[in-house]
Amino acid sequence: MAADIVGIGVSIPEKVLTNADLEKMVDTSDEWIVTRTGIRERRIIDDEETVSDLAAAAGLAAIEDADIGRNEIDLVLVATGSPETIWPSTACLAQGKMGLPRCAAFDLQAACTGFVYGLAVADSLIASGLFKTVLLIGAEAMSRFVDWSDRNTCILFGDGAGAVVLREARPGYGVLASYLDADGRGADLLKIPVGEKHQTIKMSGNEIFRFAVKILPQCVESALKKAGLGIENVDYFIPHQANQRIIEAALDRLGLPKERAIGNIAQYGNTSTASIPLALDEIYRTKSLKQGDIIVTAAFGAGLTWGANVIKWSGTSGGMDA
Ligand code: UT7
Repeated sequence: MAADIVGIGVSIPEKVLTNADLEKMVDTSDEWIVTRTGIRERRIIDDEETVSDLAAAAGLAAIEDADIGRNEIDLVLVATGSPETIWPSTACLAQGKMGLPRCAAFDLQAACTGFVYGLAVADSLIASGLFKTVLLIGAEAMSRFVDWSDRNTCILFGDGAGAVVLREARPGYGVLASYLDADGRGADLLKIPVGEKHQTIKMSGNEIFRFAVKILPQCVESALKKAGLGIENVDYFIPHQANQRIIEAALDRLGLPKERAIGNIAQYGNTSTASIPLALDEIYRTKSLKQGDIIVTAAFGAGLTWGANVIKWSGTSGGMDA
């Protein structure tokens, strides 16, 4: 038994922060940012908005897309690395804001790999029979944890949320395999320390870059192997959107044509756990996805964590039975 994506929703803040805006804030240039990262602009939440607002809006959009009742959600699972409170969880805050009746709710912390981890966790919880319908949300207000005077990091991150409703798949469809991994020895390379006066992102960019270029292709291959598939079977590759150069290096190593990779880094920057569902939503809305398509998601992040999922698209989302 596997879990299937039966609805997708997103929430993207309206406020746009361009590279030109950043040129006024730190010693940087549009040219440097575009060539080194591929990012042109990112979205930033308003002062009065919070990450659970984004999570709730994306969650409700996914429920509506799945064409199910709010009372059918058994679990709200939120992957976030930028919560507004350590507790209560963003999942509980979003559950309340969505007006869902009682159901289980918890957060999952795997930094930028959170959505990939979340898909694996939701899949296994559905397979176990514990829950029938899971709302998985990747939501971030990274702008709240950015040091806006640090040009090494402030140019990278953006805010946003994406959500999927998951249910038992028809045989042969849905999440075919997941590969998850972590190495806590790299914990210092990327972190947001708690308890300091200014809790901001601290990053060793070069080390993370080298790690990502190596690990991204490896985890794709591991997940495909678990699914009994090869790189030639991949129709869409949705990598975590951290840096266009990392994505291109991974494509080279995997021997995957560029057209198979889906991304939104130019528009949204690194939205951490939201980057994969936001990109998935794009191919979903443009109706590029066909029943039977193989989608591979892959991510890496603080922890260090990394992982990948292989999904066979069933075409049952949008409240339609194929
Ligand atoms: O979700 C996971 C989160 N993080 C990541 O995935 C980050 C992975 N790392 C990266 O994406 C890249 O390492 C960065 C984009 C962060 C940096 O790019 P880089 O090509 O590795 O540059 P660098 O750190 O080697 O810096 C090169 C130069 C340095 O100047 P000097 O020492 O050569 O004079 C930096 O001070 O570029 C300078 N620099 C900048 N210049 C203009 C660093 N940031 C900026 C900036 N604008 N924003």
